[in-house]
Amino acid sequence: MTDIKKGLAGVVADETAISKVNPETNSLLYRGYPVQELAATQPFEAVAHLLWHGELPTDDELAALRATERAHRTLTPEVIAAIDLVPLDAHPMDEVRTALSLIGAIDLAGRGSVLEASGSVEDNLERSIRLFAALPAIVAYGQRRRHGDEPIAPRDDLDYAANFLWMTFGVEADPVVVDAFNRSMVLYAEHSFNASTFTARVVASALSDLYSAVVAAVGALKGPLHGGANEAVLHIFEEIGDASNVVPWLDDALASKRKIMGFGHRVYKRGDSRVPTMKAALDTLVAHYDRPDVAELYDTLESEFVSRKGIYPNLDYPSGPAYSLIGFDILTFTPLFVAARVTGWTAHIMEQLGSNALIRPLSEYVGPDERHIEGYVPDP
Ligand code: ACO
Repeated sequence: MTDIKKGLAGVVADETAISKVNPETNSLLYRGYPVQELAATQPFEAVAHLLWHGELPTDDELAALRATERAHRTLTPEVIAAIDLVPLDAHPMDEVRTALSLIGAIDLAGRGSVLEASGSVEDNLERSIRLFAALPAIVAYGQRRRHGDEPIAPRDDLDYAANFLWMTFGVEADPVVVDAFNRSMVLYAEHSFNASTFTARVVASALSDLYSAVVAAVGALKGPLHGGANEAVLHIFEEIGDASNVVPWLDDALASKRKIMGFGHRVYKRGDSRVPTMKAALDTLVAHYDRPDVAELYDTLESEFVSRKGIYPNLDYPSGPAYSLIGFDILTFTPLFVAARVTGWTAHIMEQLGSNALIRPLSEYVGPDERHIEGYVPDP
């Protein structure tokens, strides 16, 4: 009997030097640094540099990255036009996927055959920064256009997180909000061989280009068992309404064998290492916006579900309500995850290309035995 690892559960598919998830100690390290320390002390741009290069940037390196990021913040008219072609009632992840695909097509136009698609290390760093810089504009424009609002030009005097909020809402966000948002970006940036990152590595392993790998990863992240869960958490919050409805709602949900989005994890079985940091950021936002009702619903659902099922919240549970308090539409939550995770995806694509082997597992055939087309006579 072949030992089939359904969902590749427990399979160690390769080495990585980018992050270490340790469910035993409930810890997550990016290039050796605990993610909590990075979230508390670093701007997201510095964490992007860390993931790509292996070290935190010097002041000069951070300034250089910020200058390049600022230079790529504005979407070209072609990309704006492509986003406008996506139906307004399509999911924003489809907008993101379309926009990134077009950015790649424009950048790679005239670059020769597929044999050169995977590019050099320098090419891929440049492509990574291009996507990193464009995503806030894509996500912000998506939300604005659904409200019938014009896009807002980026502000050169604002760093990544503050500019992201500026381009979405057109007001300068309070530093408390910028800090909570920056922390969420850092926490979402990287998580080893999760479904979308592994997807990106599979595409890269065929020596396709970085843009194709990222677009494929966006497709994987859209699923509600993965990135789509942060959106799903808010749908659940809306269904429940307020904390007093948690018990009857949960009785019904569990009786009908519903999955409660924002809980459970393939790797962490005793709690997600990122949750306490994001919950602290959520608490700050609850106080800032004076919304104790959100915290009450959050805490009640968590304690009821954990006590009944022993399944703990994952990062999507606190980030969903945090993004909602900041003012993002529910449908924008998973695109925000893309904006953060593009740093991890691109770091993994470059790592994969650095010691590549085509990713091509085997399968156990369980279909019909060999059979033949009636009347078929092989050529002599
Ligand atoms: N709600 C209810 N039951 C759950 C949940 C949940 N959120 N999560 C797991 N379970 C139950 C399953 O029903 C299953 O029960 P059974 O053995 O009686 O059939 C058991 O726990 C094991 O669950 P699996 O789905 O088989 O475990 P797996 O390791 O594949 O699950 C997963 C991981 C997919 C994340 C799962 O916990 C889930 O679907 N959670 C909800 C979606 C979610 O929040 N995804 C975000 C992931 S983290 C991220 O992307 C940041």
